[in-house]
Amino acid sequence: MAHPILLIIVSLLSLVCALSPYSRPNSFHDSSSRDNDTIPLVIWHGLGDSYSSSGMLEIMDIVRKAHPSIFIHSVYIEEDIEADQKAGWIGNLQLQIPLVAEQLAAIPELQGGFDAIGFSQGGQFLRAFTEIYNSPPVHNLITFGSQHMGIAASAACKPFDVVCYLVQSVISTGVYTEWAQTNVIPAQYFRDSKQLPTYLASNHFLTAINNEIPTSRNATYAKNLASLSNLVLVLFTQDTTVVPKESAWFGSYAPPAEGELTGTDEPTLITMRKQPLYVEDWIGLKTLDEAGKVKFASCEGGHMQLTQACWGLIVNNYLGGTKKVLKNDLTEFMLVQQL
Ligand SMILES: *[C@@H]1O[C@H](CO)[C@@H](O)[C@H](O)[C@H]1NC(C)=O
Repeated sequence: MAHPILLIIVSLLSLVCALSPYSRPNSFHDSSSRDNDTIPLVIWHGLGDSYSSSGMLEIMDIVRKAHPSIFIHSVYIEEDIEADQKAGWIGNLQLQIPLVAEQLAAIPELQGGFDAIGFSQGGQFLRAFTEIYNSPPVHNLITFGSQHMGIAASAACKPFDVVCYLVQSVISTGVYTEWAQTNVIPAQYFRDSKQLPTYLASNHFLTAINNEIPTSRNATYAKNLASLSNLVLVLFTQDTTVVPKESAWFGSYAPPAEGELTGTDEPTLITMRKQPLYVEDWIGLKTLDEAGKVKFASCEGGHMQLTQACWGLIVNNYLGGTKKVLKNDLTEFMLVQQL
């Protein structure tokens, strides 16, 4: 039986789609400089955004100011901007990730490899691409406020964001139903520390890319992730959208201890180097870290507050390398913390 909310979402979405005029994408990649040695960049937007929003175009402009000859591709699920925005909420990651892999494999400029920036959920999606495909290969993978260990609570919606409210109601009523796990994007990385066995039994996306299921661990994922030049993990210090915000650094809440009053006690945080995923190196993260290639950075401010101070140095230090000179510094100026 279809989830009742499904019918509501589908009818509302078709209504919204019918009402919105078709908007042509401005540009989803820049083709001004095909013959150059600069490592190209792939970016993947966050939830509620689209591949060609004004914010994403601005980001591309900033990167181009620092690296004039860089080729940039902004990942899309749908060419129509509104449809692309909705595809960040509603869809199946087991279909979206392969679609993006096909998209990236078909872009001639990317064939020698690229650097990648994932904003918010786009970060764990680009990590999924790296682990499962890595073809073309990713050099530096930079994620901003991403949910590498999932989210343990759903974030507040902006006023009048109907799709957000519907998604939130699905999450609160049945996040681990098969329907939600194959149709609602944020449900596919919802990792409720109070019901981990249910998560492990029902979730397809996050359990797979984190190699959490002992019987279906895939060594290729670990090999591919460990092949990165750098994995740069950026956390927003005042992030209240991502719960816990340390998910950006592979942190998660510990399951409540026996007899602990759930809801009243502040949950314990498991930091990256204490995660079983890390200790047993299920995804190559420990290998990468021991090689000094996992970089922790933090930005002052709330979720996705991309100030110049926050990401200017990342743009300068990790992007725009050439095949001969790979970029990999992180200057002292960033508040760098090791967990
Ligand atoms: C592991 O992942 C690789 C790369 O995605 C895939 O080709 C392979 O079939 C997977 N292996 C298993 C056993 O699922």
